[in-house]
Amino acid sequence: MTKAPDVLEPATLGPITLRNRILKAATFEGRTPGALVSDDLIEYHRAPAAGGVGMTTVAYCAVAPEGRTEGNQIWMRPEAVPGLRRLTDAVHAEGAAVSAQIGHAGPVANEKLTGYPALAPTRAFSPLSMRPIRTATLDDIERIRLAHGTAAELAIESGFDAVEIHFGHNYFASSFLSPKLNRRKDHYGGSLENRARLVRETARTVRETVGDRIAILAKLSMDDGVPGGFWIDEAIQVAKWLEEDGSLDAIELTIGSSLLNPMYLFKGAAPVHDFANVMPQPLKAGIHLAGGMFLREYPYEPLFMLEKARQIRDAVSMPLVLLGGVTDRAGMDTAMAEGFEFVAMARALLREPDLINRIAKESDTKSLCIHCNKCMPTIYTGARCVLVDPA
Ligand SMILES: Cc1cc2nc3c(=O)[nH]c(=O)nc-3n(C[C@H](O)[C@H](O)[C@H](O)COP(=O)(O)O)c2cc1C
Ligand code: SF4
Repeated sequence: MTKAPDVLEPATLGPITLRNRILKAATFEGRTPGALVSDDLIEYHRAPAAGGVGMTTVAYCAVAPEGRTEGNQIWMRPEAVPGLRRLTDAVHAEGAAVSAQIGHAGPVANEKLTGYPALAPTRAFSPLSMRPIRTATLDDIERIRLAHGTAAELAIESGFDAVEIHFGHNYFASSFLSPKLNRRKDHYGGSLENRARLVRETARTVRETVGDRIAILAKLSMDDGVPGGFWIDEAIQVAKWLEEDGSLDAIELTIGSSLLNPMYLFKGAAPVHDFANVMPQPLKAGIHLAGGMFLREYPYEPLFMLEKARQIRDAVSMPLVLLGGVTDRAGMDTAMAEGFEFVAMARALLREPDLINRIAKESDTKSLCIHCNKCMPTIYTGARCVLVDPA
């Protein structure tokens, strides 16, 4: 049996080399007034870079203005490039690499906040904007697929080392995978092969556009946590197809639906009232009253995605990133021993951006994150750990 790699040693990811195998996972920053990079956003990514991660992930860089979940979110366009270049320079100066999470929020996009109609594979109702969501036409699908290529090209111009295509959380591509959200009768709906067409075409478009100039990852949901939705057995097949297609350098595995079951992707306490408080009326009152139904609570445990991720690990040999409840050296070592090439960490690094350096010095360092999830509603006012910065 080959020895598991050391998570703190350098590793290749497609055409790039990272100083270690630890990625800062996407945590939408809420620091982009006017949909442009701010100094605050640069500091948000410089901190974990200085704190020892191999690569940080800027989230999120929408590929089209209507593909955003919030009106100030960046969408990839030439005006955003100079700011993004300052950000990538700052991260590189700390010795880390930097990835842009590119994607289209589809049904998770909030028409009320962006001013553009949200799009879904088939007509749906948004519990986020309390408005109907329009069915994507074939022209929309083509435009959004091509926009991923343009966004990746702009990411290269901005100095990114990688892009991470969002195929999770019932965003546009992931909503096509879901039999619950995708009831199309054309070649993008019905069989799994048809539902997976958009994901595969999008990955191919990005690869054809960027070649080997940067690394390409995808964040793929293994299941939505929604009855009648996308499930692990289908995810295994989709991962196999993505491996066969050869368009990706790695897959980061995730779960959950930001549209229909948001807490499933976090586990832990549901911050119902904190979430309600950042919403406009009448949503605020509704969430205070009945938000527990939307923000259902699930018990938290370390490495909470491992059991499903292991099934994907058994099915493909391409590089995989284990995410979900990775907070300490023991969890990282387990991920390596289980055959994952990388780990990704979100909340633990929001709590302590210097955690990796401290783990490197003292291997039994424990994270101070208590997975209260109160950082989740702060995405609207500047994502942060409320235990560090309650304001
Ligand atoms: C404040 C916050 C914002 C997030 N924003 C994004 C995002 O923009 N895109 C994404 O794919 N995941 C996002 N996530 C999910 C994380 O990337 C990750 O999947 C999840 O937190 C589980 O990992 P963890 O246990 O290491 O926190 C966010 C998580 C948090 C806490
Ligand atoms: S608010 Fe802080 S402690 Fe709570 S889950 Fe977020 S990062 Fe962890």
